[in-house]
Amino acid sequence: MSFSLPTAEEKAEYVLRQFDRIAQKYDLTNDAISMGMHHAWKKRAVSELGLKPDGTYLDVCCGTGDLTLRIAKNLSKNGKVFGLDFSPKMLAVAHQRLARHASETAAEITFKEGDALQLPFANGTFDGAIVSFGLRNVTDYQRGINEMTRVVKPGGKVINLDLGKSTVPLFCQLFAFYFRQIVPLIGHALQSDKQAYTYLPVSNSAYPNPQGISEIFKTAGLNDVKHISLALGSVALHVGTVSHAGSSVDRSSSDKSSGDKI
Ligand SMILES: C[S@@+](CC[C@H](N)C(=O)[O-])C[C@H]1O[C@@H](n2cnc3c(N)ncnc32)[C@H](O)[C@@H]1O
Repeated sequence: MSFSLPTAEEKAEYVLRQFDRIAQKYDLTNDAISMGMHHAWKKRAVSELGLKPDGTYLDVCCGTGDLTLRIAKNLSKNGKVFGLDFSPKMLAVAHQRLARHASETAAEITFKEGDALQLPFANGTFDGAIVSFGLRNVTDYQRGINEMTRVVKPGGKVINLDLGKSTVPLFCQLFAFYFRQIVPLIGHALQSDKQAYTYLPVSNSAYPNPQGISEIFKTAGLNDVKHISLALGSVALHVGTVSHAGSSVDRSSSDKSSGDKI
């Protein structure tokens, strides 16, 4: 199937429509495509947050709330976690998940509709922020990480879990074949939507390699930036710490003062 990426202007609208369309069976398809491995990657990513039981955390591009709930389960009744996404249909599935699993967590969970590129929160609101398989979808990667950095308190972690670019011989060819040829077929079989899962590998070709993401983290002013390679490099986990000395990200801009104080 021939496919070209939407232009930067079209991308946000395109991505929103796509996730609205696939929301209902997103979890099932995600399990199938990753062969269930996304659970282990997310577990590792959450472990890097260094959760404080009473802390307040943000899951950006939370989708159906899988990671949001995973964080909440590790918090006390004083803990809070916010899941933010711009797709109302993905958030509807997140609310259904929350209703099913409410008894498994004492912490407060709030799902909020909003844009990752303009987080509706005041500076330094959270003890940590995480994005999983979301950054690739936003129109401006740097701005996405800048926004996460802005809303996290000094000393807190900013974490990105997303696709990597494996360079392991043979595996990288096999992975490319699986991703380009098989994944769209799985998407078609489970979602009757070959296009959405054709976009997935194409979106990754435009996404920076792990060194590029590390640079984005450093440009945001994050300290101690590290890249953890998972699944033979096909998945990349990045961790950075918000500086105590202030960062290159403008924490004082007035347009952010209207963000929620929670
Ligand atoms: C691949 S899903 C990942 C969902 C979840 N984090 C996970 O790991 O399963 C990407 C999500 O990013 C959301 N998204 C993409 N661009 C966004 C933006 N600019 N603002 C908010 N959400 C966005 C989509 O609606 C979608 O739910």
